[in-house]
Amino acid sequence: MTDHARIPAHGRPADEILAEIDQRHSLDIDWRGGRAFSLVYNVGDHAHENLIEQVGLRYLHDNALNPFKYPSVLQMELDVIAMAADLLGTSPDAGAVTSGGTESIFLSVQVARDHARQTRSISEPQLLTADTAHPAFAKAAKYLDIEHVKVPVGADGRADVEAMEASVGDRTALIVGSAPCYPYGVIDPISDLARLASERGILFHTDACLGGWLLPWWERLGEPVMPWDFRVPGVTSISADVHKYGYTFKGASVVLYRSRELLQHQFFWYDEWPGGLYASGTSAGTRSAAPIAGAWAAINHLGVDGYLRLADVVRRTTRKFSEGIESIDGLRLTHAPDMSLFEFGSDSHDIAAIGDVMDDRGWNLDRQPGGLHLMLSPYHEAVAEEFLADLATAVSSHGESRGVAATYGGVV
Ligand SMILES: Cc1ncc(COP(=O)(O)O)c(C=O)c1O
Repeated sequence: MTDHARIPAHGRPADEILAEIDQRHSLDIDWRGGRAFSLVYNVGDHAHENLIEQVGLRYLHDNALNPFKYPSVLQMELDVIAMAADLLGTSPDAGAVTSGGTESIFLSVQVARDHARQTRSISEPQLLTADTAHPAFAKAAKYLDIEHVKVPVGADGRADVEAMEASVGDRTALIVGSAPCYPYGVIDPISDLARLASERGILFHTDACLGGWLLPWWERLGEPVMPWDFRVPGVTSISADVHKYGYTFKGASVVLYRSRELLQHQFFWYDEWPGGLYASGTSAGTRSAAPIAGAWAAINHLGVDGYLRLADVVRRTTRKFSEGIESIDGLRLTHAPDMSLFEFGSDSHDIAAIGDVMDDRGWNLDRQPGGLHLMLSPYHEAVAEEFLADLATAVSSHGESRGVAATYGGVV
């Protein structure tokens, strides 16, 4: 047999467990040092981190499956939904808190599938996205057994409206746009895409998992932000992750609908078993209450002024990084980003080899087929100069690429 973990015959002392956990954890990505550019959104504020940790601990053992046993969790969930709904412009009861962007996306696809079946008699609905849409849509199409039609984006990295229109068919149940998309950080032309959808009675989803908790603040700070939320006619659902730029710990996203009627396609009631009525509003059964409480605490602790302050830091940091990168001879942003993430590449250097040097210097840039990828959080402001100096060195000193593949996510 290969050497794999086995249940110990005798339990191990707590201090030994903690020491081993700490040792193992020390080998993980150093996001607290500003060296991670995805996965964790580092607010760079220990008081904030400490608060959400304390709140998470208080609810660590609690189960949000039955809200009637947990009036405190129920109220926090309703509050998070209502606050997100206010921010994005829909009614305060037309959404749900989910475990993350992928679950929010799954649910919006499932709602569109069932809506198409029930109201348009489409037995085999289709999902239509640009090819920059997050893989969660392809995964949802696979798990929910619906056809996924994907359309290449234009040269600016945005969904190509004409090409999307040409791909709309009688079976299209949902059209998707991103605000912004992960690979390039650009916002799709949501107004045009949503108009296309609504003229044909098709639902439209804006994937604002990334932008949902940042773009509204950038807009208030005076940044030009292309319209993408419920103010755009035809947008019928939005995903917005609180565990990204809402600055809570993992396990919290919001899926919102234009009406509670649409949300109801998501609900599940079942009493054909001996256990009594089982009802649930999202795809999970047992749900950790901690992320709901964490999201509630993060939003209330930051408030509008806190989010505006952090959004300004992220905006400043994005400029610092993007201008710094473009000032290095041989490097360029591949697309002009609309938010705090982008891809950069090179026409004269092997960008993968530059990535290798940056890896060796402890930076964890994400790799894409077209270049290296950065997503900026408030804490990155503190490391901007060191990063840019290392990047300039990497450009002038790199050798052959080690051939590291472009990956996102993983399977064990
Ligand atoms: C645009 C976009 N949509 C959806 C997701 C999926 O979110 P999650 O990883 O929380 O499931 C991500 C994750 O980065 C994303 O960038």
